[in-house]
Amino acid sequence: MRSLNSILELSVEELDQLIATAKDIIAHPEAYQDKCAHKKLATLFFEPSTRTRLSFEAAMLELGGSVLGFSEAASSSASKGESVADTAKIISCYADIIAMRHPKEGAPYVASRAATIPVINAGDGGHNHPTQTLADLLTISREMGRLENLTIGVCGDLKYGRTVHSLIEAMSRYPGTKFVLISPKELKIPGFIRYNVLERNRIPYTEVSSLEEAIHELDVLYMTRIQRERFDDPWEYERLKDSYILNTDKMHLAKERMCVLHPLPRVNEISVKVDDDPRAAYFRQALNGKYMRMALILKLLEEAERDPVREAIDTESLEYDRVCRNPKCISQVEQELPQLFRCTDRAADIHRCIYCEQRG
Ligand code: CP
Repeated sequence: MRSLNSILELSVEELDQLIATAKDIIAHPEAYQDKCAHKKLATLFFEPSTRTRLSFEAAMLELGGSVLGFSEAASSSASKGESVADTAKIISCYADIIAMRHPKEGAPYVASRAATIPVINAGDGGHNHPTQTLADLLTISREMGRLENLTIGVCGDLKYGRTVHSLIEAMSRYPGTKFVLISPKELKIPGFIRYNVLERNRIPYTEVSSLEEAIHELDVLYMTRIQRERFDDPWEYERLKDSYILNTDKMHLAKERMCVLHPLPRVNEISVKVDDDPRAAYFRQALNGKYMRMALILKLLEEAERDPVREAIDTESLEYDRVCRNPKCISQVEQELPQLFRCTDRAADIHRCIYCEQRG
C-alpha cells in the first residue's frame, strides 16, 4: 500500500501513466463511473480549500464512490487536541482512502505512517502540494502537446508557494526543462528545492525579479499568489503582495504559443482581462485537477487492494540526534513524534528533517 506525500514518490513512468488514464477518463467517462462503487474517500481539511477538496470529492463521486470528512479543524476533534496520527488511525476505520490538507509541514506524512489506508497529501503548509502538480502536468501536456523541452517561468511567492516546489520537482525530471524563477529577493525558492532538486540534477535556471524582462522566453508562465497566511510579519506581506500583476500589456510581450497557469485562488496577480486570452489556461487547469485526482484515487486503491501492507521506510540512513527548528514543522506539535533526519548530501554534511525537509 502506498500513500502520496511528495510528487517525487511517483516515477516519470507513473506520472505519464496517470496522465494517460486522465485523458482516457476525459474521453470515456462512462467506463469509470462505477470503478469505486462502495469505496469511501475521507477529505480531512484542516485548512481552507475550494478546488482541492471539492475536486477530490467530485472525483470520487464520478468514480461511483462516496465521500465523508470535514473542511476545517474547528469541526474535528483536532480542536480538542487530538493528534494527526490518532486522527488517521480513526479515519482508517471509516474510509478506504484519505486526502489531507494541514497547515503543519509533514502532517500528511505523519498520517500516512499511522493510517492503514492510503493518505494523499492535499497540501502541507508551505511545503508540498503533489496533486496540484498532477493537475499542472496534465494541463501542460494538453495545452503544449508535450512535457519535454519547455522553458517554465514561475512567478511570485517561490518561498512559501508549495505548488511551485512540487512543480519544480516534477518538471526537473523531464528532459530539456529550463526554469526562470521570478520573485522578489525575500521570496526566493527554499534550499530543499534549490540544492536538492535544481543544483543536484544540474537543471538550468535563472533568477530574475522582473516579469516583463523574462516573459518573452517562456513556454509556460506559472503565476502564484503571495501567501499571506504564511507570513509572520503582516507588514512584510503588505509590502510584497502586489509584486507581480499579469495584465494584457505584459501578455503582448509573450510568445503566441505560451500558456498561463495559476493554481488559484488568484488575489490580484492576474488581471481578469487576461481571462479571455486563449493562452490563459488556469480555469481548464482546475478542471484537469479533477481528472488527475480520479486517476490517482484509482491507482492508490488498486495498489492497496493488491498489497494492503504499508510501505516500509528506509531506516538505514536515518539520524536521531538532531532537532528541527522549523516552527511550521509537524514535529513541533505532534505528541511524542521522534525527531528524524536524513543525510541528503554527505560531502556537504547536509541533513534534512524527514517531515518538513528543512536543514537540521
Ligand atoms: N490550488 C489549490 O490548492 O486551491 P484550493 O486552496 O482552493 O484547494
